[in-house]
Amino acid sequence: MNAILTDSEFKLFRKYIEDKCGIDIPEGKAYLIETRLSRLLVDSGLSSFEELYNLIIRSNDQNMAERVIDAITTNETLWFRDKSPWVILEKVFLPRFVDMLRSGQRRKIRLWSAAASTGQEAYSTAMCIDSWLMRNGIKDITLSNFEIMATDISQTVIDMARTGRYDAISVMRGLDPLIRDRYFIKDGTVWEVDNRIKSHVKFQQFNLQSSYMLLGKFDIVFCRYVLIYFSDILKENVFSKLFGTMEEGGVLFLGSSELYEKIGSFFEMVHVENAVYYSRREQRL
Ligand SMILES: C[S@@+](CC[C@H](N)C(=O)[O-])C[C@H]1O[C@@H](n2cnc3c(N)ncnc32)[C@H](O)[C@@H]1O
Repeated sequence: MNAILTDSEFKLFRKYIEDKCGIDIPEGKAYLIETRLSRLLVDSGLSSFEELYNLIIRSNDQNMAERVIDAITTNETLWFRDKSPWVILEKVFLPRFVDMLRSGQRRKIRLWSAAASTGQEAYSTAMCIDSWLMRNGIKDITLSNFEIMATDISQTVIDMARTGRYDAISVMRGLDPLIRDRYFIKDGTVWEVDNRIKSHVKFQQFNLQSSYMLLGKFDIVFCRYVLIYFSDILKENVFSKLFGTMEEGGVLFLGSSELYEKIGSFFEMVHVENAVYYSRREQRL
């Protein structure tokens, strides 16, 4: 029998989920919690949502807490999603980064995929940089001059991303066959990112609600299709922390359908052909 989510259970989970990962589930969308957590109830032999709540709060069951977050978060992603960030990277930023590296102005260029899901965004970036260097006959600068960090709140997706292994369906989503054949090794029905590309992407679990103080400074941040689920206050809080963790002139990519009012105090929107990126302001307004 399916458990029903009562109003008071909805309020408890709503607050828990927002406190834990920033995701704001509005009043009218209680069904999201009910449908996404029902499977977990059944699999764990629990009879009510209250029982599940007590396990994660009163018994501090970390494993169950992670399973709740995994069930609530949306991990949809694909290779070179929206295409435009990588076009802009190639047209505008990679030539600039090569100059900065050659002149000694910078030893490393740091990029961060901040809600990386199963890794497609970060690996797409490594493949884009490597292919661009190759296409332009650049040999003195290599992928080793770029540090790519990829994080997500979910340890489950981070573990999957780190393996670099994708099934035949996910490998088809957005991936040019030329890139696939250059950077993947086929192992039965699975396609695995080659070790050289894998070794240039560092995955770790990280919650965007935490402090960014220890992350260091980034030149490029991809924070795409995650803030859509956050309340306005939490979005602003993330923009403020991203501002603090980016180099002057640093670049932020959002998803192509994402538009946020509060971003303007920290980043300036820049148009490149039909696409946009956000450039860190010298000072917040
Ligand atoms: C829809 S996916 C987007 C993946 C990728 N950025 C893209 O655009 O294809 C959103 C990801 O954000 C992660 N996420 C949700 N809340 C988060 C938080 N507070 N901190 C870090 N990651 C979070 C989810 O686990 C999920 O993998």
